Amino acid sequence: MKHLIIYAHPSENSFSNRLNQALVHESVQRGWEVEMRDLYALNFDPVLGADDLAQLKSGSTPISIHTEQKFIREADVISFVYPLWWAGFPAIMKGYIDRVLAHGFAFKADANGVKGLLKEKRVYLYTSMGNSLEQYEQKGLLEAFRKTQGGEIFEFCGMEVVDQQFFPQIPVASEDKIQFHIDQALTGFESATRIASTKSA
Ligand SMILES: Cc1cc2nc3c(=O)[nH]c(=O)nc-3n(C[C@H](O)[C@H](O)[C@H](O)COP(=O)(O)O)c2cc1C
Repeated sequence: MKHLIIYAHPSENSFSNRLNQALVHESVQRGWEVEMRDLYALNFDPVLGADDLAQLKSGSTPISIHTEQKFIREADVISFVYPLWWAGFPAIMKGYIDRVLAHGFAFKADANGVKGLLKEKRVYLYTSMGNSLEQYEQKGLLEAFRKTQGGEIFEFCGMEVVDQQFFPQIPVASEDKIQFHIDQALTGFESATRIASTKSA
């Protein structure tokens, strides 16, 4: 099993970083191969620019995009770990998605419609946030996030979004609560991967 973790947080002392480290540790414990792409540490360029678009249109892939696509191609499970910023991904992760999940690699669109090309890949989303779950639930936004951060991106590309876990009120959470969230994330990961591997067996 190959686990790719796409991680976006600039601060070492963040909840996201603790969760990221816990997921890496859990994967190693299971004997999985794990690759972790720390987008800030990599100084990943998130801007899909004119040169990128021109190269992709001509059938070649810029090297920085190609490198990340190779990690995705080889992965069975892909986890995205990030804080919710302005009801969406941090810009660096949005830009990763813009550039890496390119036409011809992640999906194909022609006169017959759109086809996702990344089948057999399972996606987990881990989203920390400042608001409470109730605040977002009342507005119907948790469901909206599942669609805009999950289905409309990864399922569009043919992948299966197994789970999106939200971690609410992190800036005011006690150490016990933080640990509870991390344990909950690992338990969710454990049960969902078990279900997913039974399905694919
Ligand atoms: C630029 C910015 C935008 C934010 N936008 C939201 C938001 O839209 N909704 C929300 O619940 N929290 C928002 N927050 C709070 C963060 O999601 C929260 O501080 C973070 O998830 C805590 O986890 P961390 O320790 O991993 O950063 C925002 C924080 C920043 C810095």
